[in-house]
Amino acid sequence: MSILPIVTYNDSVLREKAKDIPENSDQLQKLIDDMFETMYNGQGVGLAAPQIGESLRLFVIDADAFTSEEDDEKDYGPITFINPVVKLLESEKIAMDEGCLSIPGVRESVTRPDKIEVTWLDREFKEHKEVFSGWVSRVIQHEYDHIEGVLFIDYLGSFRKRLLRSKLNLVETGAMEADYPLLPKKEAAAK
Ligand code: NI
Repeated sequence: MSILPIVTYNDSVLREKAKDIPENSDQLQKLIDDMFETMYNGQGVGLAAPQIGESLRLFVIDADAFTSEEDDEKDYGPITFINPVVKLLESEKIAMDEGCLSIPGVRESVTRPDKIEVTWLDREFKEHKEVFSGWVSRVIQHEYDHIEGVLFIDYLGSFRKRLLRSKLNLVETGAMEADYPLLPKKEAAAK
């Protein structure tokens, strides 16, 4: 397994509508393993394929640490979503802070519906359909946006966006620090 560099927010791959994955392959299995390793290394709860430069309808999540307090019955540990379809259900709209491994150093409150219905293939290409709410729903909606070319900062008003401008400039030029590998790379200051 390898830790892959994560592309940052101004990369055009993050703005594409990603493509369906037609079939399973060894290459796909390796990509999924690498995505989990990359996500854990960045201490993320989700990672979408465009974030490592692959315009594919694939994301991985591990929301277990955050959901165990909400609901002890359910395990939202490692889940792989291939070719997912997310339907927003009529439900309460909730504001929660979000961050993104592609936009290090930025956390902002985003309002989204609580309940979603998701149809997807797991890494064995077995089909699933399930309704999610709470934290795990939030993570899935954020990751699903990535394969649709949408970033969470798109939901912010122009005032909040203006306040973020200088931070986003740092990310754009590769000057933003993170504890995990990013593209563009930060210029090596010394050695
Ligand atoms: Ni993200």
